[in-house]
Amino acid sequence: MALRTCVFNAAGPKDVTLDELETIGKSRASAIVMKSCTLEPRQGNEEPRYSDVEKGSINSMGLPNLGYREYVKFADALKKHGKPVIASVSGLCTADNVEIIKSFNDSPVDAIELNLSCPNIKGKPQIGYDFAQMDEVLRETTKMCKKPIGVKLPPYFDFVHFEEAARILKKHNPAFITCINSIGNALVIDADKESTVIRPKGGFGGLGGAYIKPTALANARKFYELTGGKIPIVGVGGVFTGRDAFEFILAGATAVQIGTAFMQEGAGVFERVADELMLLLKTKGYDSLDDFRGKLKTC
Ligand code: DHB
Repeated sequence: MALRTCVFNAAGPKDVTLDELETIGKSRASAIVMKSCTLEPRQGNEEPRYSDVEKGSINSMGLPNLGYREYVKFADALKKHGKPVIASVSGLCTADNVEIIKSFNDSPVDAIELNLSCPNIKGKPQIGYDFAQMDEVLRETTKMCKKPIGVKLPPYFDFVHFEEAARILKKHNPAFITCINSIGNALVIDADKESTVIRPKGGFGGLGGAYIKPTALANARKFYELTGGKIPIVGVGGVFTGRDAFEFILAGATAVQIGTAFMQEGAGVFERVADELMLLLKTKGYDSLDDFRGKLKTC
């Protein structure tokens, strides 16, 4: 899949409606990722369910989306922007994922990002933390999906878990690995109000932004190492500047997605980060991302 720059939007922020997706289409984002979708439309969790916080964001949106049928239709309209359109699929069970992917198979989407890491559905654990279920859903989806299918992972924190996840991924050989989703079930407290800052699930939600960059870099790096650089890594988590994007490429990423910074700054963020990255390459004397991709040195 050819990308004009290595910078585009992460699934989630401002990508639910056709209007929002058109804004991403008109921006310098090099692809359009649509909101993670389910079989049926969902209202999502009660408000307030997103909050900017000092170094990032916390959310418990609860998968508000229009249902996959709308995103199949949107794909047609969004193709006019001349950049890849990526469907994010987050079915509530394996059968749902298969049904949704079947429909995207016959649509003009360029790729599918299978989301195995939504932390915000009450009573639904993240699939990426249940390796037997992850193996099953990848077995059932990778074989019937006719589009390049990548996997969006939750953050891992232990080398044993990285290795187990990588073993399963290599078995099913996805087209790309997107890491990381938000750090699930974090808690931000407002001491003045003696209150949580979001309402659902007692205030627990997915953490994004600068807090999570070191964890995101660790995940991008580990999966790059464990897959021998053979599966493209899409890095996401705490990208606010071209320098952040540079760090992800150095760790082994092929592209980066922007979530929290897009929420906070709007669609101008894609051009700013891409320009900053270009300038940094020039300063360092690099001609392309391949000159330094994955070439992180140990001090
Ligand atoms: C939502 C949050 C996620 O982190 C995700 O991967 C999918 C959906 C949400 O709450 O809407």
